[in-house]
Amino acid sequence: MRDRILSGMRPTGPLHLGHLTGALKNWVQLQEKYDCFFMIADWHALMSEYKDSMRIKEYCLDNLIDWLASGLDPEKSTLFRQSDVPEHCELNLILSIITPLGWLERCPTYKEQISQLKEKELTTHGFLGYPVLQAADIIIYKAKYVPVGEDQLPHLELCREMVRRFHFLFKKEIFPEPQALLTETPKLLGLDGRKMSKSYNNFIALSDSPDEIRKKVAAMFTDPQRIKITDPGHPDTCNVYAYYKLFAPQLYEEVYEQCKNAEIGCVQDKQRLAECIVEFLKPFQEKRKKFAQDRNYLDKVLKEGAEKARAVASSTLEEVKKAIGI
Ligand code: TRP
Repeated sequence: MRDRILSGMRPTGPLHLGHLTGALKNWVQLQEKYDCFFMIADWHALMSEYKDSMRIKEYCLDNLIDWLASGLDPEKSTLFRQSDVPEHCELNLILSIITPLGWLERCPTYKEQISQLKEKELTTHGFLGYPVLQAADIIIYKAKYVPVGEDQLPHLELCREMVRRFHFLFKKEIFPEPQALLTETPKLLGLDGRKMSKSYNNFIALSDSPDEIRKKVAAMFTDPQRIKITDPGHPDTCNVYAYYKLFAPQLYEEVYEQCKNAEIGCVQDKQRLAECIVEFLKPFQEKRKKFAQDRNYLDKVLKEGAEKARAVASSTLEEVKKAIGI
C-alpha cells in the first residue's frame, strides 16, 4: 500500500509558468511514488469568485487540460473535481460544527485576504470557513501528505487541529494527521518582479500563443541599474536571468557573461528569452491542443476520477457518522 497524497488547485483562471515549474512538475513526480488524489477545487474558487461564478466551469476544464499536458496521468492518479464529490460538503458541515470560530478568525491567510481583496467582499460565512472545507478535502481521503506551497501551512496546521479535536470529541481515531510535503521549487517571480499572481496579471499563461509570449517578455522589467546599453548588467539580481535559468539552461552561462560584460542589450536579450520560452512550451502546447480538442476524453477523466474519489469519500463519511452516532 502506497501512502496517500491529496492536493488541489483553485480554478480561478488560466494556469501559468509558475504552476508548471512549481506544483505540476512536482505532482507529476509524486504520482510514481504515492497514491495521489489531485483535485480541482471549484468550491474553493467559488468562495472568492462568487460574483463571477459562470467562468469557474470553463477554468475547471482549462486547468484539467494543463494538468494532462504536463503529464498527470489518470491511470496513475485520481484526478477529480471537488463539486463532483458532494461528500466533501457533508464532512465540511461536520467539521464546521466542531471548529471554534477563534481558530478561523486568527488564521493569517484569512486576515491577509480580507484586508487585501476588499472589492471581493470576502467577509462571508463561507470564506471564513475556507480552511474547514480544505481540511474536509484532505481527511476524507485519509491523506497522509499534502504537497503545498508555504502559503498553505496555516491551513494544514488548522486541519491537524480539527483532526485532533474530532478524535478527542468522538473518541475514535479515524484520520491521520496530514503533513505538508514541501518541495524545493525554484521561485519564479512575475514579469514585473512582483509575486506571480493572477490579480497582478504579470504572468505567462501555459496557453499563451507565441506572439503573446513575445509581447509579455518584451515588457519584462530588467536590471534597474543598467541604464545605458554600455553599462554592465547584474544578472544575479535580474529577473530576466532567473527566467533563463529555468527555461534555457543551455544558454544561461553565455547570457551571464554577455550581460555582465555589456555585450548584449536588454531588448535583444529578452527577444532571445522569448524564443526560448516559446520553444520550451512547444511540446507542452502540442499536447495541450490535443487534449483541448477531445472533450469526450476530458469528461471521461472527470467522470472516472469522481467515481474513484467518491468510493473512498463515502466510505470515510460512513465511518465518521458512525463515530458521531448520527
Ligand atoms: N487552498 C489551496 C490553494 O489555494 C487549494 C486547495 C483546496 C487545497 N483544497 C485543498 C490544497 C486541499 C491542498 C489540499 O492553493
